[in-house]
Amino acid sequence: MHKSYGVNEIREMFLRFYESKDHLRLPSFSLIPQNDASLLLINSGMAPMKPYFTGEVEPPRRRVCTCQKCIRTGDIENIGKTARHGTYFEMLGNFSFGDYFKKEAIAWCWEFLTSPDWLGLEPDRLYPSVFGGSDTTPADDEAFAIWTRDVGIPPERVFKFGKADNFWEHGSGPCGPCSEVYYDRGPEYGCGKPDCTVGCECDRYIEIWNNVFSQFDNDGQGHYTELKQKNIDVGAGLERLACVSQNVASLFDLDTVINITNRVSAITGATYGQSHRTDVSLRVITDHIRSATMMICDGVLPSNEGRGYVLRRLLRRAARHGKLLGVDRPFLYEVCATVIGENEGAYPDLREKEAYITRVIRMEEESFAKTID
Ligand code: SER
Repeated sequence: MHKSYGVNEIREMFLRFYESKDHLRLPSFSLIPQNDASLLLINSGMAPMKPYFTGEVEPPRRRVCTCQKCIRTGDIENIGKTARHGTYFEMLGNFSFGDYFKKEAIAWCWEFLTSPDWLGLEPDRLYPSVFGGSDTTPADDEAFAIWTRDVGIPPERVFKFGKADNFWEHGSGPCGPCSEVYYDRGPEYGCGKPDCTVGCECDRYIEIWNNVFSQFDNDGQGHYTELKQKNIDVGAGLERLACVSQNVASLFDLDTVINITNRVSAITGATYGQSHRTDVSLRVITDHIRSATMMICDGVLPSNEGRGYVLRRLLRRAARHGKLLGVDRPFLYEVCATVIGENEGAYPDLREKEAYITRVIRMEEESFAKTID
């Protein structure tokens, strides 16, 4: 069995690894997009780097690595009901703006994931996938050859998937085939169907890494032309990697996250793992207070529109679940101290703004309580 690392250790390990490969470490960009009207909140590691990919802005170095704070609230109604969904996560990423390409990206991905000096996962639990081609775009034979010839993975362990899984794009702009890495968590996580394998929707094979080879420009009408500059956009979910490293079932069992749930338990008297109903509430509160703390720190305020409304919804949903657990007073503002304690190593501004964040949450809780009354 591989060694288990904490969330904060993995974040630092990833950034140090890519620094050792000449990448410039940049701090996470704000959750509030700058000069990008297409997004309410930053939702991936590459989103704040779009101008570097298109060449509009000169990057500080052609090799960059980050751990980016992200929010995705697309399926907010599912949060809590399953142990899988969360609205806040961090995405580890290494980026090449016209510098290295597929060969280095794949070799380093494999080294980081499997070397005992780094994450040290068992190679025989890992399965890469590559783009298998579509009507308009050829299969990525180059990536297949790198995995099988250079890295030495037997060809039958490299999966070929279509556009839905292995071609990354967001509307128009830089895009390209991608090569993901899946981790086999073992049959105990599986659906048990005889054809269950990499790509199955169940919890057994989970995607832990995405190497995007941004080599095309999409004009928005589905026409692809080769970019002058070939880029690398790698995204690896920090919490996913940590679940695998710590061998736990979900985000809510991770070292840094369970401390937040424990704090909520101490206040509400509900213990995690005792009933589905109270677990849903504990998960909603834990997830939403993480997101809210990080959003307020980055300058979002509760309001009735845009990202302010996203924040208001998160806080009100969390407050409602507090009521369901029998808490009839503002309490979320007390939990944010734990969120700050767990994350201040990577985000020191959380501690600097603690009093402010606490005040904003408390005011929103009080005004919500009045609305209900
Ligand atoms: N842009 C890709 C993703 O979000 C890789 O970083 O998965």
